[in-house]
Amino acid sequence: MTEALLKLENIARNFGAIQALRGVDLEVGRGEVVALLGDNGAGKSTLVKIIAGGLQPSSGRMIFEGMERSFASPAEAKAAGIETVYQDLSLCTNVDVVANFFMGREIVKKYFGIPVLQEAAMYSAVEKAMANAGTRIPSLRTNVEHLSGGQRQAIELNRFVHWGGKLVLLDEPFAALGVEQTRRGLDTVRRIADQGIGVVIITHIMAQAFQVADRIVVIRQGVVAGNVRAAETSPDEVVRMITGEALRSPAQETRLNGRSP
Ligand SMILES: Nc1ncnc2c1ncn2[C@@H]1O[C@H](COP(=O)(O)OP(=O)(O)OP(=O)(O)O)[C@@H](O)[C@H]1O
Ligand SMILES: [Mg+2]
Repeated sequence: MTEALLKLENIARNFGAIQALRGVDLEVGRGEVVALLGDNGAGKSTLVKIIAGGLQPSSGRMIFEGMERSFASPAEAKAAGIETVYQDLSLCTNVDVVANFFMGREIVKKYFGIPVLQEAAMYSAVEKAMANAGTRIPSLRTNVEHLSGGQRQAIELNRFVHWGGKLVLLDEPFAALGVEQTRRGLDTVRRIADQGIGVVIITHIMAQAFQVADRIVVIRQGVVAGNVRAAETSPDEVVRMITGEALRSPAQETRLNGRSP
């Protein structure tokens, strides 16, 4: 097996007396989509914030690309290639798609000492990135304010991949989207994973997890209550992991199958 992109070991985090996370181990591979499921207050968002540098763990280790790392801020995590993508919070609505893609990283050439924006080069780079991800935007010259939530999300994801992102975190990314936009969002997630990006996606919707994830990890009361390949589990089993309903013991299973233990 190849080395994991991200490896968490025994991550704990408390908020005063509240133990939000109590020793979480988690691995995410390159090109792997991990869905995080769990009840309200289970610790999912806390975990994702720790990975993205928005919160620091109380204890535990985080290994990214084979090196132990600790991110003091989201900017540090971002510099390492880890980013949380929100629906539209980080886009500038009053400029077009191309400008958003190159915000702060514009291609400029100097002619006789005068900087000139390389509009055509930037346009074709964005066009290519969108085509790679199968994202269709009516016009890249449209100001982002006129685009839908799903389109904005796709732009953010494509921008993340374009600038060398390695691990993307999504906390209930489709909560505000309609059926068709959610379907496209799930497609985009799958496509960026197929380009080698690791994805951690929090969702409360079981069908979404099964649709997009390679692996399903259930968090319950601050610990990992289940970690299974999506192809080898069922919604029923995942529900039992979420609620903590006792799973049958192997001995019971054997009896039920009509064999003596
Ligand atoms: N900043 C904070 N200060 C104090 N307690 C917090 C803070 N953030 C989270 N918690 C507590 O930590 C626990 C885990 O919260 P978290 O937001 O990670 O849950 P979650 O699994 O994302 O839930 P949901 O599905 O409702 O979003 C909860 O008990 C929550 O109240
Ligand atoms: Mg949450």
